[in-house]
Amino acid sequence: MSIAPVDDATLARLLTDWLPEQRWFAGKGLELSGVRVTRRAMMLDDPEVLVEHLLVDLEVDGRPQRYQVPIATAPELPGDRRAFPLTPEGASPVVYDGLRDPRGTESLLRHLGEQAEVGGLRFRLVADAPVPEPTWGRLLEGEQSNSSLVFGDDLMVKLFRLVQPGVNPDVELHAALADRDCPAVAALRGWVELDDGEVGDLGGGPTTLAMAQEFMAGAADGWAMATASVRDLFAEADLLAEEVGTDFADEASRLGAAVAQVHEDLAAATGVTTRDGTDLVASMRARLDAAVAEVPALAEYADAARAVFDEVAGSGPVPVHRIHGDLHLGQTLRAPDRWIVIDFEGEPSAPLAERRVPDSPARDVAGILRSLDYAAQHTLVGVEDRQLRFRAREWRDRNVDAFCSGYAEVSDSDPRDTGALLRAYTLDKALYEVVYESRNRPGWVPVPMGAVERILSAG
Ligand SMILES: Nc1ncnc2c1ncn2[C@@H]1O[C@H](COP(=O)(O)OP(=O)(O)OP(=O)(O)O)[C@@H](O)[C@H]1O
Ligand SMILES: [Mg+2]
Repeated sequence: MSIAPVDDATLARLLTDWLPEQRWFAGKGLELSGVRVTRRAMMLDDPEVLVEHLLVDLEVDGRPQRYQVPIATAPELPGDRRAFPLTPEGASPVVYDGLRDPRGTESLLRHLGEQAEVGGLRFRLVADAPVPEPTWGRLLEGEQSNSSLVFGDDLMVKLFRLVQPGVNPDVELHAALADRDCPAVAALRGWVELDDGEVGDLGGGPTTLAMAQEFMAGAADGWAMATASVRDLFAEADLLAEEVGTDFADEASRLGAAVAQVHEDLAAATGVTTRDGTDLVASMRARLDAAVAEVPALAEYADAARAVFDEVAGSGPVPVHRIHGDLHLGQTLRAPDRWIVIDFEGEPSAPLAERRVPDSPARDVAGILRSLDYAAQHTLVGVEDRQLRFRAREWRDRNVDAFCSGYAEVSDSDPRDTGALLRAYTLDKALYEVVYESRNRPGWVPVPMGAVERILSAG
């Protein structure tokens, strides 16, 4: 006997309660309304389970968002795992998270291996990708705005939860870097796309739904490695940074080389153009004004900060190309044999057109430098130990230098020589952090505020 799909209206009602509880839901704490299922495609029609792919439109505080939501419908929940049901206890049939059904994840991989077209979804492999053997996928449980499945020990599929018309920069830039044989990223294996004419109000052309790439088994997160190094340094009061077993400087240098390689390859693959300095700092100036209005303690720095941005504005054309755009230590992985950079999608809530604008690689460098500062200080929030603060500063400066030296070995420019440009991007990022921390974690404000002070006094 086959299972009957639950009707659209019932699904919309169930989703209204279920979506806000999902880790990847981007409207937490805001008012959710108008949930509608706007597209449904059958991924697996099995006597024991239906797996469907849904596009769900809704408004968050009145602003439209579109999500993709695979769901499973079955007489009962699968086995012993948590299935994140949409239906209340005792319901029959049950509707639950389609990415938590092994048959659902296996069907996804089968479609990819067959480069199938299922319900309008096109599954594609890159030309020389190995064809995956069907097997079920396990969902990563970390804090994440998308959902990533790992199959076996070498394939990962990431579903972009927020769907925007067009090719996702993660797939676009991984493909561009693959063309250059860039060693500092995981290999792109394939993707899933939808012809967006199908959805009504999208712009025409393909819309990316998911990306398949090489899974780097045994890779360590750059943030985790950096913070472990800082912890060990603090625990060894008598040792210098270079004497501690987990000294990070060699790694920071190799990471700098990897980021420079990514920039070289992105420049070659996407082309270098220029943007006028005034255009580059326009958004920085606007953010500065907004930050000063929101955080009064910034007022005393406003003039000096404006002068940093003025210097870039007056410097004429600045070379730009596609960059990562949201780089920090959490976007880097230390694979057993090398560093890689991950997650080129940019800020998921920003419009795709904005995320695709060429920018200076100094923005990415600034992102890592700020992240090194956070890594050095993150255990010192509210701690008044001058000795530890001194050691944190030492660790930061040592690793900033190592990162820049590594970068300069691959690139023809040393980030430390880009002067005003790097200062402007680092300042812009620190100002953003001051606002973020004052809204969310007031105890942390001194970390970015210290950076603002440092950057401006160095000028
Ligand atoms: N190629 C890979 N190999 C191994 N692990 C990976 C790979 N790519 C990503 N990961 C792991 O999966 C996690 C999530 O990946 P990613 O950052 O791409 O997802 P995301 O949903 O876009 O995250 P965010 O919400 O931070 O934007 C990473 O933190 C990393 O630990
Ligand atoms: Mg991301």
